[in-house]
Amino acid sequence: MARIAYVNGRFVPHAEACVHIEDRGYQLADGVYEVWAVFGGRLADADGHFVRLERSLGELRIAMPMSRKALELVLHEAVRRNRVKNGLVYLQITRGVAPRDHAFPTRAVRPAVVITAKPVDMAASEARAAKGIGVVSTPENRWGRCDIKSIALLPNVMAKQAARESGAGEAWFVDELGLVTEGASSNAWIVDRDGVLRTRDLNANILRGITRRSLMDIIAQQGLPLSERPFSLEEAKQAREAFITGAGSLVTPVVSIDGVKIGDGKPGPVAVKLRASYVSDATERAL
Ligand code: PDD
Repeated sequence: MARIAYVNGRFVPHAEACVHIEDRGYQLADGVYEVWAVFGGRLADADGHFVRLERSLGELRIAMPMSRKALELVLHEAVRRNRVKNGLVYLQITRGVAPRDHAFPTRAVRPAVVITAKPVDMAASEARAAKGIGVVSTPENRWGRCDIKSIALLPNVMAKQAARESGAGEAWFVDELGLVTEGASSNAWIVDRDGVLRTRDLNANILRGITRRSLMDIIAQQGLPLSERPFSLEEAKQAREAFITGAGSLVTPVVSIDGVKIGDGKPGPVAVKLRASYVSDATERAL
């Protein structure tokens, strides 16, 4: 089936979709994005992603291109036109098109909007989770505003490529204190030696993951111990379990870090159960 993309007010064949060469996203990475998981044709954690989108745009002083309600309709239409049952929808908003100049354009420009939607093979995704992934560590080298979901992703691109070249599925950034910040496209978690779920606190320079937030509610409901206390790479290697969260990975167990087996080298029971709980809960709440 031919894919359809949304570009600045129009649905167009994916293969023909294009943006202007002076789009500030293209030239300066001057823009933000969001990714929603799609379950049963509906958006997972819809509101959380909208709230973060509005915040990212606000921090960069880019206007919302349309109301949240209108954007929601367009995202649903993109999902529908691409017949996505389970998958991902990607939204990118840049400051717009203007002659290249680092500072904001002096004349008002319209933000540029691109949306794509694609199916994900859930059986393949479950198989990947059932096997677990490897992680490689890499020095934290990103800017100081990782709370903004900016399209400027070069450090993440380089880290992910390093992971791929080592046969790993994700890279974890490690700060100068030896503490794990987050993954190249996910948040990082462990179940420590005392059985406590640990993930980095939001005062750190990380993205405020929406899957992370939803999973915390599930963890509270299940009465599991949770602490937003930083963990070192060494602690992670000695943890009972490790896993990642994100709209793309959902909850995916980590079975090795830098080649060191985590636990018995198989997905841990807590991560496996939390994945199932997250998928069923998010499917039920999807809009
Ligand atoms: N990435 N940290 C980083 C650096 C991310 O890029 C992402 C998401 C997350 C998890 O956030 P959330 O749970 O809201 O998806 C954490 C998306 C999926 C991506 O870049 O494709």
